[in-house]
Amino acid sequence: YARQPIMAGNWKMNPSTEADALNLANGFVALLHEMEDTCAMDEVEGCTEVVLFPPFPFISKVKDVVGKAGIAVGSQQVYYEDKGAFTGSVSASMVKSVGCEYVLCGHSERRTLFSDDDVNINAKVKKTLEFGMKPILCIGETKEEFDLGITKEVCAMQVSKDLAGVSKEDMKNVVIAYEPVWAIGTGLVCDPESANKVHQFIRTVLERMYDKEVAENIRIQYGGSVTPESVDGLMAMSDIDGCLVGGASLFADKFARIVNFKQ
Ligand code: G3H
Repeated sequence: YARQPIMAGNWKMNPSTEADALNLANGFVALLHEMEDTCAMDEVEGCTEVVLFPPFPFISKVKDVVGKAGIAVGSQQVYYEDKGAFTGSVSASMVKSVGCEYVLCGHSERRTLFSDDDVNINAKVKKTLEFGMKPILCIGETKEEFDLGITKEVCAMQVSKDLAGVSKEDMKNVVIAYEPVWAIGTGLVCDPESANKVHQFIRTVLERMYDKEVAENIRIQYGGSVTPESVDGLMAMSDIDGCLVGGASLFADKFARIVNFKQ
């Protein structure tokens, strides 16, 4: 099973202005062009797929900048209804129409700060797929759950609830991001071997839910304080297929190095 690496930059609620967002996007593309070994560009088979998740107001213009370099854009969130009186929300159709190919679903910040639960995360995953986009389903244990030693139970529960009713065919378009909540934005990157074990466990859960083909073909990213210093060790692991990067993706040079990880 050859899985194409996928590196994603989640800008979260940054940067503060459109001008800064475009500077970041332009700087990133310029650095990729300079890098000899860049695998991010074009759709060459086996190359690393790169996706940026800018805040909503910047998506279109960032797409104009990075799209030419073969980099995709995605939405950090969608609502599961199609349209109507849902002040402050955006629909799958809206983000699709401005060029999004991916949608983050179930990010821990959405779960904890915005009350996304497994029922509505499941609805958002399905709505994303219905509109021909690819969900990146984020899962992972909190510090308390880690201390209790229930990482596997938490991940198994989130995977089974958040993907309930998703067909085997649709699973071809799903990416999972394993993000231990205690590693997000803390500088405490999970050690590669431990992360790899959780990724392998997630595949066993998917094998039970679907079959070996789904389990082996799905791409599973690691997320949580990934830096240029930690990326190579993570990507050397058998079951880590990419990274979901927050803080470091706000620095063009750091994210360019992450995307060009060394194997
Ligand atoms: O979506 C990205 C993750 O939450 C990781 O964020 O790289 O700042 O720890 P971080």
